[in-house]
Amino acid sequence: MTAPDERPAGAGARRVRPVPGGPLLIEGPVEVELPDGGTARSDRFVTAVCTCRRSRRYPWCDTSHRRRSRDRSPGGPGEGPQQ
Ligand code: FES
Repeated sequence: MTAPDERPAGAGARRVRPVPGGPLLIEGPVEVELPDGGTARSDRFVTAVCTCRRSRRYPWCDTSHRRRSRDRSPGGPGEGPQQ
């Protein structure tokens, strides 16, 4: 018999998808332990967890990772239109 918190390998595995330069997208309800010992919970179908620490809604991604620092060197990321 399997303990309630154990799952057979591969069965019901939670899918986590890292977005390059962005959050971790995690399927299902998510509970995150915070540095202060508290917890934050999301019951969304997919939750975006911030990995850049720039979010004003940390630990949840608020798309702040999309803002770039200005690099004014020719051809640098600060060149060209803003997204
Ligand atoms: S990963 Fe999106 S705000 Fe940090």
